[in-house]
Amino acid sequence: MQNRKSESVKTGPGSRTAVNPRVRDRVREQRTVFLVGFMGAGKTSVGRALSHRLGLPFEDLDDRIQKREGKTIEQIFRESGENEFRKAEMAALRELLGELPRSPRVVALGGGAFVQPGNAALIEEGDVDSVFLDAPVEELLRRCEQEQKERPLRRNPKQFRELYANRHQSYMRAALRIETSGKDVETVAAEVACSLGLG
Ligand code: S3P
Repeated sequence: MQNRKSESVKTGPGSRTAVNPRVRDRVREQRTVFLVGFMGAGKTSVGRALSHRLGLPFEDLDDRIQKREGKTIEQIFRESGENEFRKAEMAALRELLGELPRSPRVVALGGGAFVQPGNAALIEEGDVDSVFLDAPVEELLRRCEQEQKERPLRRNPKQFRELYANRHQSYMRAALRIETSGKDVETVAAEVACSLGLG
């Protein structure tokens, strides 16, 4: 393995400090990663595994929405409807992006967040890597049916398949697409890290 010597960098008026290039590169690598994709894609579970792997904090945008609103996602949909949920989602996303890049992290976005045109523009302006976790829609459906999680937009299989088809093009705007079909959480997290050059 190549042994790189420390480089001298200026840290203040007249002062020079030796910085190990490996440490410097590591700091440079600390970029926020957004995991996007449909319901059941594994954004939260892969996000947790990836954050562990990268040594970065993990955040679920839906959790931030729930804290800000003082209600569960299901309650927001039921009491105020999808439009109000989208407004709350955008406000939470804007707040989160405002905290970057000072505090990089791994973020799982809710299934609809990346496909809202206003949000996509905000994300494109942010200094983040977006990764689309994909799987065949039948597998996504099966995963959602096995989970306990309340999903207001998982009404019936027909509507689920149509929504997936309508959104797919938008998810493809992410910087990277990772196929998750038949893979376990750790394998997907490792693949994401490697594909981003962080493995
Ligand atoms: C939504 C997906 C949910 C949640 C909300 C809306 C969607 O998140 O944000 O119910 O529009 O697909 P998950 O993708 O984590 O289930």
